[in-house]
Amino acid sequence: MAYGGYGGYVQLGRQPDEDENLLATFRVVPGPGRTLHQAAEAVAAESSIGTWTALSTMQQRVLSKLQARIYSINKRTGILKAAYPLELFEPDNSSQILSDIAGNIFGMKEVAALRLEDFEAPKSYLNTFAGPAFGMEGVRKLVGTASKSSRRPHLGTIVKPKVGLTPKEGAKVAYDAWAGGLDFVKDDENLTSHPFSRFEERVVRYLEARDRAEEETGQKKIYAPNITAPADLMLKRAELVRSHGGECIMIDVVTAGLSSVQFIRHQNLKMLIHAHRAMYAAFARSHTHGMSMRVLAKLCRLCGTDQLHIGAMLGKMEGAVEDVMQIHKDINGDGYRKQWKNIKPVFSVCSGGLSPLQVPGLYKIIGNEAVFQCGGGVHGHPGGTYAGSRALVQSLEAAKKGVSLEQYAKTHVELAQALAKWKKK
Ligand code: 3PG
Ligand code: MG
Repeated sequence: MAYGGYGGYVQLGRQPDEDENLLATFRVVPGPGRTLHQAAEAVAAESSIGTWTALSTMQQRVLSKLQARIYSINKRTGILKAAYPLELFEPDNSSQILSDIAGNIFGMKEVAALRLEDFEAPKSYLNTFAGPAFGMEGVRKLVGTASKSSRRPHLGTIVKPKVGLTPKEGAKVAYDAWAGGLDFVKDDENLTSHPFSRFEERVVRYLEARDRAEEETGQKKIYAPNITAPADLMLKRAELVRSHGGECIMIDVVTAGLSSVQFIRHQNLKMLIHAHRAMYAAFARSHTHGMSMRVLAKLCRLCGTDQLHIGAMLGKMEGAVEDVMQIHKDINGDGYRKQWKNIKPVFSVCSGGLSPLQVPGLYKIIGNEAVFQCGGGVHGHPGGTYAGSRALVQSLEAAKKGVSLEQYAKTHVELAQALAKWKKK
């Protein structure tokens, strides 16, 4: 007997078992001539065990044990809820889960558009992943902002121009940023190793600058060199960073791939992993098709990134405040569910088009538990990187004190200069 095709996967009302099933939420627009029900059948079949036609090789055992089930369809919104037997998912394998719930299904003719909005999984599955080695609290311990009284957002910058500076020039920029009061300096997402800035030399020079800034300020400083490359080279680069006393590495998690993040995490290098999400919007920006940033963020947490760009909210990148805050809750705040309790919370990074002017607004929205990062908003300051960093520190001081930037600028010249340049007339 041949079973299947795209039939029998919709089982409305059959509630999933939260300890046994991985749950996925999809938003679907049926393909031309297809009903929502048909699209739902196809999504569940193709993302689990089925294909377009009945199979003579299908067995009742396989069908009843491993098929995904659509247990809820919202006809108005096109939201489908699917429950997957946990056996479908290989433990600690981020690629494999994507090949299931974010695989073939996006390209099927049964759907005109499909978006994976969210997933949840039992802790027996989540706990198979390493998760962050340090997480937000680990980063805070390193920097000295873990106690209640010292808690504040971390401040960071990206050396700009994005690429082009020599290691010596970039190290000077990094030094100025740290000396000006910032905690964190990182490479930009498209800087790896180039004729004008070889990775090895850059790491050596920037870490020398970090040491000098730490000595002079008495504060802990972090540098995140971008190690993004084929996995074997990433490991070599990470080891080089460690051998020079580095405590952090950055990975472009989408372009490098989550499995290479896992690979680096599995090495237990005892370094923070900062995650840049460059390219995320290729699949996350559309609200009808692709995969949400929320899903990517949760996967990053599982794979072990300690810090992750989640959106700027008030800056240059897309992402509504409520969506970015949902991501923040998922990876950092108390919004995440109990299943995640053994996976350390990730430090959320707000970055992209921010300047000291957005800090009070950002602080009001997200509070202490995030990294505020400004690239152009530091290095575009009329007084240069040092003054730009001072202005960023001052804007946070003002925000924490509840004093307006205009008021604070009366006694803080760098902030006044930042306002003069960026405040819309
Ligand atoms: C980032 O990688 O997040 C960007 O480089 C931010 O740069 P910007 O602050 O100049 O927009
Ligand atoms: Mg960048």
